[in-house]
Amino acid sequence: MRTHVVDHPLVAHKLTVLRDERTDSPTFRLLTDELVTLLAYEATREVRVVPSEITTPVSPMTGTALASPKPLVVPILRAGLGMLDGMMRLLPTAEVGFLGMLRNEETLQASTYAERLPDDLSGRQCYVLDPMLATGGTLAAAIRFLTDRGADHITCVCLLAAPEGCANLERELEGLDVPVTVVTAALDERLNDKGYIVPGLGDAGDRLYGVAG
Ligand code: URA
Repeated sequence: MRTHVVDHPLVAHKLTVLRDERTDSPTFRLLTDELVTLLAYEATREVRVVPSEITTPVSPMTGTALASPKPLVVPILRAGLGMLDGMMRLLPTAEVGFLGMLRNEETLQASTYAERLPDDLSGRQCYVLDPMLATGGTLAAAIRFLTDRGADHITCVCLLAAPEGCANLERELEGLDVPVTVVTAALDERLNDKGYIVPGLGDAGDRLYGVAG
């Protein structure tokens, strides 16, 4: 697994405002959207392309087009939905599949409670959207779900990641023969005893959508 922390002053600036407890939900949603578009630029560096023959007003040339099958963008419900528009701005022709993951608080195992994805993901590049890589359990389960269906290239886009979560994810994916990259705006200090990222930004779902349960 490869972890890529995007080092850019605009990312750092937007992330700082996002973290601030005084930032309200409308501003938080807007900044998440902008930040994800910046992360998407890095996250799509290895998107598959093919040569494309075109003619400009001056001459024929060989350009570049996205390969088929088109990439699949998979927001993890609920907080990953807040990242969808920012990602689709750069990949408007991608398809979108939805995955709802729930963590059992006793066993700490993540399970799928909802999914709307093609049965066959053979040869598909998948972009998984989950704002907070905290324990890594949800992302590990989501990645297994996608690779079990044939996905052969996974990029996770996260606003923030915790070192414990990255280590755990790496352990959980041991032996998986599919390249996995995590692209994030920052690798924070640690997880606290409630599983929150420190300094983090709080509960991403609540800050995006309010405390709706
Ligand atoms: N999920 C969140 O929304 N925030 C955290 O800090 C950790 C997990």
